[in-house]
Amino acid sequence: MNAHPSHFRPAPEGPRPDLARITPPARPLGPWCLFRTIVRNPLEAWPEAIYREPLYVSEFLGNTSLFVMAPNLIRQVMVDEADAFEKSEVLRRALSPALGDAILTADGARWRWQRRAAAPIFRAERIRSFVPAMIAAAERTREALAAEAGAEVDIAQTMMRTTFEIIVETMLSGHGAIDAARVETGITDYLESTSWIFALTLLRAPAWMPYPGRAKAERAKTYLRDELLRLAAEGRRTGTDGRNDLMSLLLAARDPETGQAMDDRDVADNLLTFVTAGHETTALALTWAFYLLAHHPEAEALVAAEVEAATGGGPLTADHVDALPYTRQVILEAMRLYPPVPVVVRAALRDVDLGGTPVKAGTPITLPIYAVHRHAALWDHPERFDPGRFAPEAAKARDRYAYLPFAAGPRICIGMGFALAEAVAILAVLVRAFRFSLRPGYRPELKQRITLRPAEGMPMRVTPR
Ligand code: HEM
Repeated sequence: MNAHPSHFRPAPEGPRPDLARITPPARPLGPWCLFRTIVRNPLEAWPEAIYREPLYVSEFLGNTSLFVMAPNLIRQVMVDEADAFEKSEVLRRALSPALGDAILTADGARWRWQRRAAAPIFRAERIRSFVPAMIAAAERTREALAAEAGAEVDIAQTMMRTTFEIIVETMLSGHGAIDAARVETGITDYLESTSWIFALTLLRAPAWMPYPGRAKAERAKTYLRDELLRLAAEGRRTGTDGRNDLMSLLLAARDPETGQAMDDRDVADNLLTFVTAGHETTALALTWAFYLLAHHPEAEALVAAEVEAATGGGPLTADHVDALPYTRQVILEAMRLYPPVPVVVRAALRDVDLGGTPVKAGTPITLPIYAVHRHAALWDHPERFDPGRFAPEAAKARDRYAYLPFAAGPRICIGMGFALAEAVAILAVLVRAFRFSLRPGYRPELKQRITLRPAEGMPMRVTPR
């Protein structure tokens, strides 16, 4: 494992806030306790060893699975030998009923052509063209929050709505209307069921197995799938009018092997994937950033000062978004402590050797991003919030594979540049306008439902600056 970067700059001393975190069990849990913990919150089932070991082998009822934390081994799985691994069964069982066999859940040739089809909309100049829409959405949220000044608001909810508006406007450019509130509830209801799916997959239970909340999740899934299918069919019927958005790219795509176009179901599955993967994650990155800033007023003041200096007190534009290095560092550090996607799981397609440990084909490989980001051998004072870790020199001195909010390799998040521009724009617009304070005494509970959510939202008051 890498030693700490030699020129690490410690965070300013002072009273340390007791930041929300997972307390791992000191010893591996027994089968029944493990099952119950996974249902409640899969992250709480990870043993303490994965926060300090390079590799950890877990046995559960005769099933072996591997946790990989060493950056060189993460690189082997995600990059160097990426073709020896596929998306895991548990991920497919959790997500495919809603997302089908689209870009996030597919593997091999089927994944490749869907990725190629969507790629043009994520080129740097396209992302740049979306920044004004991101700023405009942030400004609408600013106006809504100004009207609520002094009252308590759930910033998690506020961020979900803001990023939802942005994803619909930029990716779907006005293709049909979507009921934001119903889609939000649908996504939450569906994701609630995923921890049961994790636990039941571990028990090798059949996919039809009932569990509490299943009927609600099924209704949510049906609503989401029908709604996106309606949009896809509407998009095909009305034509794309040279609109050049994600819908147009998907409708025009052809499988290079068969020459076939996507049918409405494939288009809808991809649209739902982009709508869900593309807004909830960024909203969570921002929610946790506001939480951290509320505990670190000195960092909040630095963000506000940076925005004022960059804009000269005028409105924020797309050019400014590229020139706010500290604001960006705050977002990156928030995603280290609270990665919106806290775990990625793969399965070995063939027998491989991972750092001297033989791994049989079919073995699930867990890349515990949340634990890697707090790993004792990779980070100094891992529990401490310090945006200085992402200053260029400090970041350069660190192993690239010690920090993985967007994963790495061919399956790296396609929306990374989009998400970073969006998060910086929203943080900049809101922090220059308000101070954010957490409900006194509130300590959010971390809950993994694919993404890392505050279990009961993020109640905050905003005060005009
Ligand atoms: C802070 C925000 C975000 C985070 C932390 C994040 C994180 C990730 C991660 C870790 C993966 C890899 C999953 C795996 O390999 O199993 C991923 C994939 C993906 N993300 Fe993001 N994401 C974010 C924002 C976005 C946005 C804004 C979009 C679209 C507009 C997006 C679309 C996707 C898609 C389509 C994939 C699948 C890519 C593939 O398999 O080829 N994400 N994301």
